[in-house]
Amino acid sequence: MAKFKKSASILLLNGPNLNLLGTREPQLYGRETLMQIERRLLARAKAAGVKLACQQSNHEGVLVDRVQLAARDGTGFIILNPAAFTYSSIALRDALTAVRIPFIEVHLSNIHAREAWRAHSHFTAVAVGSILGLGGRGYDLALDFAIARLRGGGA
Ligand code: DQA
Repeated sequence: MAKFKKSASILLLNGPNLNLLGTREPQLYGRETLMQIERRLLARAKAAGVKLACQQSNHEGVLVDRVQLAARDGTGFIILNPAAFTYSSIALRDALTAVRIPFIEVHLSNIHAREAWRAHSHFTAVAVGSILGLGGRGYDLALDFAIARLRGGGA
């Protein structure tokens, strides 16, 4: 197993209403709960020898505070689903650019195949990249990339 710097940890951050995954519009977001997704990613991160912290909040300020904390707790990469804050939160975007921690934007659904107003994200232009429309698997792919990045690879 590759050795990481002591500081190399990953933060999985989920925005509003994603605590309802599993029962929330399953035709769009699938039947997997957030707890199932987090447990799977925690196990995969552990197997890869990397620390993963998970947080979900329905509150913009809590997410901003968590990103600010990431600058001080050794987080090297963030996986973010901003959910509805995708379209409104300049504060969360500013927090991410302020801490300068690279991040991937994940959406379970393909936001380009839905209402037109969902297509414009405030985050895409400042993300390393985006993963859309692959359901819960999108988080796994983001984690693979983040681990590769922390090992010194990736795009
Ligand atoms: C979402 C897509 C957003 O448009 C929506 O507001 C969400 C979930 C997704 O993961 O597909 O809450 O981010």
